[in-house]
Formats: sequence, C-alpha cells, structure tokens
Amino acid sequence: MTSLGNPLRDPQDRRLPRIAGPCAMVLFGVTGDLSRKKVMPAIYDLANRGLLPPGFSLIGFARRDWADQDFAQIVHDSVREHARTEFREEVWAQLAEGFRFVPGDFADDTAFHNLRLTLEGLDLVRGTGGNHAFYLSIPPRFFGDVVQQLEEHELVSTPGSGWRRVIVEKPFGHDLASARELNDLLARVFPPESVFRIDHYLGKETVQNILAMRFANEMFEPLWNSNYVDHVQITMAEDIGIGGRAGYYDGIGAARDVIQNHLLQLLALIAMEEPTSFDAVNLRQEKLKVLAAVQLPARLDTGTARGRYAAGWAGGVEVPGYLQEEGIVPDSTTETYAAIRLHIDNRRWAGVPFYLRAGTRLARRVTEVAVVFKRAPHLPFAASATEELTQNALVIRVQPDEGMTLRFGSKVPGTAFEIRDVNMDFAYGGSFTEASPEAYERLILDVLLGDPPLFPRHEEVEASWRILDPILESWARKGAPEAYASGGWGPASSDALLARDGRTWRRP
Ligand code: BG6
Repeated sequence: MTSLGNPLRDPQDRRLPRIAGPCAMVLFGVTGDLSRKKVMPAIYDLANRGLLPPGFSLIGFARRDWADQDFAQIVHDSVREHARTEFREEVWAQLAEGFRFVPGDFADDTAFHNLRLTLEGLDLVRGTGGNHAFYLSIPPRFFGDVVQQLEEHELVSTPGSGWRRVIVEKPFGHDLASARELNDLLARVFPPESVFRIDHYLGKETVQNILAMRFANEMFEPLWNSNYVDHVQITMAEDIGIGGRAGYYDGIGAARDVIQNHLLQLLALIAMEEPTSFDAVNLRQEKLKVLAAVQLPARLDTGTARGRYAAGWAGGVEVPGYLQEEGIVPDSTTETYAAIRLHIDNRRWAGVPFYLRAGTRLARRVTEVAVVFKRAPHLPFAASATEELTQNALVIRVQPDEGMTLRFGSKVPGTAFEIRDVNMDFAYGGSFTEASPEAYERLILDVLLGDPPLFPRHEEVEASWRILDPILESWARKGAPEAYASGGWGPASSDALLARDGRTWRRP
C-alpha cells in the first residue's frame, strides 16, 4: 500500500500494484444477490490480477446445509457468470483452496464458535496471520445480532498481531435516527478505523476521476463557482423496473436507495473544496463540510418531485406498473423517481442550484453530472446567429459510455455566421487500453489494505440523512406519488420543478 519498507519510494506513489497482505474474509449473506453478482466475482477478479495474497481465504456463513465444496460451487457459478476477467483454471484452483463454509444462523452460538475455530485453523494452515475482514452483506436488521456474536466469540479483538475490519453495505439506516443507532452499534464493537461503509459509486473509476479532473488541471477550477456556473444536474437513471427486488425496494424508494448515498456523494465530490491531501481524514473532511452546507428548498412541495412508474412500454416491451410488480403492497406509497433542488450555503456556490434526480424504468440507463455554465454576458452577433446556441456544459459521464463531454458554441461552416452547440468528447475506450476495474474490486482491495479514503465516515452518512429526512417526512404526508410513463423521463412535476427556475432537464 505505501512505501513497502523502501525509504526511497514516495509513500503516496500508487503506480506499483498494491497487493493485499495475508488475510481472510468472512462473507455473511452468501446467498444474496450482491454477493453473487458483485462480491464473489470481484474476489476472483482480484485474484486473477494477482492482487490477493497466496493464502487468501474466504469463509461463507449462511443458514444452509453446505459443505466447503458446495460453497465453492456457488462461488464458481457466480464467477463464471459475473466475473469481469477471463476464467483461468489455475487461478481458480489456488483461490478455491482457501474456501470454507460455516453453516448456521445468526443466533446460533455454536456456529460462531465454529467460525472462530475455522479462522484459527486458517491462520495456522494458510498463514492468514489473524487478519480478518467481516463482510456484512445482509439486511441491516441482522447487523446487531452478527456484531454481538462476533464480539461474544472474541472474533473482533486481536490478542496477538493482526487486524479485524468490518465491511458494511447500505442501507445505512432508514433515516437519521436509525443511521445513528447503526453507527452506535458498530462503534460499540469496532474502532472507527476498522469500519468500512461501502458506497460502491466511490469505487467507480469515473467517480474517482472527478478528483483528477478538478484538481490535476488548471482549466476547470477557476470556473468552478457561482461566477460561471449556472447550475448542476446530477442524474442517475435506470431503464429497468424493480423486478424481483420488491422485498428490498418497497418502503425504501429512490431517494433512500440512491440519493442518500450515491448522488449526495457525487454532489460532495463536485462541490467540495480542494483537500490538502487525498488521505481519508482530509478528503472526508471536505466532503462533510459541503454536505453540512447543503440547504433544502424553502418550499418542499415545489422544490422536490416524486413519481412512480405506470404500466406501459419500455424498450419495445410491455411492462407492468410499480403496483403490479410482484410483492408490492397495494397501498404502497414508495417512489421510484425522486428529484430535489438543493443549494449549498457557501461563498463558492451561493445561488447555484444543484438538481438531483434518480429514477427507475426511465428512457435509458445513464448516470452523469452536468455542470452547466452561464451564458456569455454579451454576444456580439446578430440574434439570429445564436438561436441554436445553448449554454456551455461539462458533462461527466459516470456510466455507461464512461468519459466527459464539453459542450460549447462553434461557427457552422459556410458563408453565413451562425453559431451552434458542438461537443468535444473524451471516452475512456478511446484514450486508455486498460479496462476499468469494477468498483467492488477496488473497494474490497482497499479494505484488505486498510485504505479508507473511499469509504464514507459515519458523519457523512448522518449529514446525508439530515438532508433527506425533512423531504421524506413531507412526502410521507402526501400519499401516493404521481404516475409517470414507463420508458420516459419521469413525472411532470419534475419537469415543472426546473421550469419554474427557467431551466430544463437534460435528456441524455
Ligand atoms: C445500488 C442500488 O446501490 O445501485 C440499486 O441499491 C441500483 O437500486 C444500483 O440498481 C445501481 O448500481 P450501478 O453501479 O449499476 O449504477
């Protein structure tokens, strides 16, 4: 991770591969979607890239009557289906030697005793050195039980050498009060530096690139303020519906699912001041400052919008409405679309609205941040020459089609003087030969290395809930959300929100 003991190497030099030291990871929730689609494939991809130590061990824990080989088969199937990198027998064989399975439920003392024996055994035979990460890929209502069991069975203390870390998946609570409870629960057992909260957006290359773009260049930052920026739009649109995820999604909705975490983290990275360094303390401090400066719209009814997709057509296929999806309660008031106008109360951003929107079953899957600039104060052209000129914009395309677009006005070739928007494009595919790792590869590796900058601290989580709570409370008083057409761009009230400010949403 850092200097590797070489005094001549700059400790911040990240060019050499960072390889995790000896360790084991316990995965709670092995039967869940996230484990199968993201966590297990990421572990294989890390092994395939040579970034895991030879003795790395993975212990599955679940209420299943499985032997080690059954667990290995589950991981194998998930890797075959979802891994990013090519399947190589020799990598798989070495990795699978470190797989163990401990059956039991979270209330089962014997199971946790067995878990401890398994970990001690691995320390002896595979040299995992007492370094253990516990990955809670389980619904938060079970966190308390698991954390207590880990404590009671002395799995969190390290009498000898070695580290213990806990990885927590969202949702980090349902509101501010429950987030605090969760944080207190973790803090009772784990020191703050051992808690790694995953917001997988921070593991995405394009999201980390926001830091590079803003702070490694000279041409953006001077314009990055209310003198030049008209407004910012942050969009996370998904074209799929909630499908088989009713159990998770109903009662949660778009704002809790992705605005509380991913979108507010994007806002923080876009709006924060330059940290004095990119270590965990400084980076998180700047993000926290900006989250704490966020102001809600004076009127929540006109400054926010929410919707729920209706039955219709999306991508040429007939699709059910949210209420017709399997497992949704008939009187559900959960939103599948949310839009919010926020302000940031500081000198840099005074008067610049940040519009955030997130929705499912929209026209296409796209996550982007658009920084839209003010118009030139004076246009020395005939009015007709600039009819097709809009506003300059820098669009950070988080996914898909990762890259950035700069929109500006250009003269249309010809004898007339006419100015029209053109785009200058940077695409990862055209500029780099390496494929981007999956967010989970980066984040799991960071946990194993004990490298915390990309994991939000509990103060950030609480600051985000402080922003969202009043909005969610106002929505709860209003009943069912407004319907919007599947395959479109959300409810009319969302368009009205921007129209009132004389603006329109981008249609990416
Ligand atoms: C998750 C949300 O955090 O992010 C899901 O819970 C959403 O509802 C997912 O689908 C999207 O992730 P990505 O990386 O595909 O944008």
